[in-house]
Amino acid sequence: MKVEIRRMLEADVSQVIAIENCWDYLSKWGEEGFLQVLRKPFLFCPLVAEVESSERTSPGEAGTLVGAAVLALMVDHGELCNLMVPPRYLGKRVGRQLLEQCLEVGRQRQLTRIFLEVRHSNHRAIRFYRRNGFEIVSRRRNYYRDPPEDAWVMEREAPKDPLPKGASRVLKGMDVLPR
Ligand SMILES: CC(C)(COP(=O)(O)OP(=O)(O)OC[C@H]1O[C@@H](n2cnc3c(N)ncnc32)[C@H](O)[C@@H]1OP(=O)(O)O)[C@@H](O)C(=O)NCCC(=O)NCCS
Repeated sequence: MKVEIRRMLEADVSQVIAIENCWDYLSKWGEEGFLQVLRKPFLFCPLVAEVESSERTSPGEAGTLVGAAVLALMVDHGELCNLMVPPRYLGKRVGRQLLEQCLEVGRQRQLTRIFLEVRHSNHRAIRFYRRNGFEIVSRRRNYYRDPPEDAWVMEREAPKDPLPKGASRVLKGMDVLPR
């Protein structure tokens, strides 16, 4: 399956919420939360993964959103505050492609490090982040609600080298400006 990673638009929000609702334990941003993010492009980089049409795409699948991510752009570091893929599309490298684009945006913004929080019990996500260069640096007690749980804080350096040739095309029109 080929996906295009592109900037999230207002028209995407209903599909993004449907992905969010697939996961009980995610803190729900809802429509208002995602619209707020879209209104602050200087602070947030919201991305979606959209299925591209190809000979291996099943009818009606092209154009479907199969993942979303939001990177908060702080002065010198980034915070990955959202990354999700619906259950049926897990393990197809969608999460990885979204994360890579977030890292590339971080590199272009000259951020030094990228942080994130993840539930203690979210072993799949922790393994995924470890495989992608993050390490646990601290613990936040009772960080989550519904259900209450501690968070691991994970961190990695923003990459210094650009994505391989070809990958940068997906950033076209993404408003990634030099600082
Ligand atoms: C974390 C998350 C975004 C990862 O997304 P994903 O699209 O499944 O990620 P990838 O496909 O890039 O990688 C996932 C795993 O599948 C494996 N994989 C990918 N393609 C594969 C293939 N063709 N064959 C076999 N394994 C494959 C990868 O090696 C990877 O293994 P790992 O977890 O042991 O590292 C996803 O699990 C998710 O949305 N979880 C629910 C929401 C959530 O908890 N988000 C994190 C909040 S902090």
